[in-house]
Amino acid sequence: MVKLKTEALFSEELLSEIRGRFAYIDIDPLKQNKRLFFDNAGGSLKLKSANEEFAKYDLIPDHPLREHETAKYLVNVEQKGERDIRTIFNAKNGSIKTYLTASQAIFDITGVIAENIEGTNIVTTALEHPSAYDAAKFYANKFGKELRIAKTNRVTGGVDVEEIVKQIDNETCLLSVIYASNISGAILDIETIVDEARKIKPDLYIIVDAVQHAPHGIIDIENTPIDATNFAPYKFFGVKGSGIAYLSDRAAKLPHHRLYGKEDGDLELGGSATGHFAAISEITDYVCWIGSKFSKEVDRRSLYVEGMTRISLHERALLENMLNGTDKVKGLRSIQGVTVHLDYEDLSKRDLIIAISIDGLDYKEAVKQYEAENIIVYERVASSIYSKRMLESFGLDGVIRVSPLHCNSIEEIEEFLEITQKIVMANK
Ligand SMILES: Cc1ncc(COP(=O)(O)O)c(C=O)c1O
Repeated sequence: MVKLKTEALFSEELLSEIRGRFAYIDIDPLKQNKRLFFDNAGGSLKLKSANEEFAKYDLIPDHPLREHETAKYLVNVEQKGERDIRTIFNAKNGSIKTYLTASQAIFDITGVIAENIEGTNIVTTALEHPSAYDAAKFYANKFGKELRIAKTNRVTGGVDVEEIVKQIDNETCLLSVIYASNISGAILDIETIVDEARKIKPDLYIIVDAVQHAPHGIIDIENTPIDATNFAPYKFFGVKGSGIAYLSDRAAKLPHHRLYGKEDGDLELGGSATGHFAAISEITDYVCWIGSKFSKEVDRRSLYVEGMTRISLHERALLENMLNGTDKVKGLRSIQGVTVHLDYEDLSKRDLIIAISIDGLDYKEAVKQYEAENIIVYERVASSIYSKRMLESFGLDGVIRVSPLHCNSIEEIEEFLEITQKIVMANK
């Protein structure tokens, strides 16, 4: 554990280069004063270049489906963007489809599978984001199927493989499961879930919501074949206004809304935004650039995997320091008056999200007090549709969610811990 603190962190030099690439890395966009942005699970800090590339292409009026040079250039940018999405997913086959949001992606794909695949039940978990959960519920109701819900684990903050697998039988039409929770940070064991679920029903359709996990870990469809997954570029250092989905060949062949005459597997509806593809290429370039600092590989996926591995190691070291403290300041686990919820010991099973509460302090009020200290965190409370079911499944009525990013430094974690101590003292 101690090793992780020093060995896994980016060097000072690399971290400084990384930070230079992000907008508003430590500045309030409005007030222009110094601040710590620790709400990356709600929408992450953004790469300046992703936004610049988006804007650059969005200014060009030319329609890609033309024959002139600029049009062809735009097609190349979109094709590169699609290849980069495949790099992120490690998807050699299947289709890529873009939406306005990741929620639309999951609703759409859940609906097509539920309508066209036989089976009397749909299985999901209590930990899902409402986009996946409500899609499963909506289409289970619409097509008269039973909705089966796997329960969460209060120790790990996730859902156990066995809980999911025991809901599945020969009549399961679809399993829809989250990769990592945007409330607890717990990473589910998707590989084992997929293996075990398909032992029961070998041709089971499976959707994995990867919106939370994609910016923090490796997704590998070649290794763990599923039927659909998604990510949201705005939570992945990129631009708001698109949701990206992968569909397996068989899922893409189902009767989606589509334009007849387009090639099989081409599910795009309408004029695509070249800028979004360009922004995703910037995200991929960025992760590969980090990879190139540690590896001599030239293959893009290998560099991407290396970069994402380094991102997750740095984040895990930040998480460890946040929980256990540093030479200078106490960690959350030992500040009296702070409770760390869903605090699973094995940090390799957690994305960089920490759920805390402060004795005697209402969640909203705590968030306000952090804001007064120029720290942005967010309350996840049971009165919100975006947290109610998940929190209640853990027996919680709320938490303060703290979600830094790999571009944060140990010094920033220390600053957060010091302010937390100050807030605790002020409310004793
Ligand atoms: C785990 C998870 N899935 C899905 C979504 C939905 O993403 P979008 O806002 O792009 O619809 C979110 C957004 O918070 C999320 O955290």
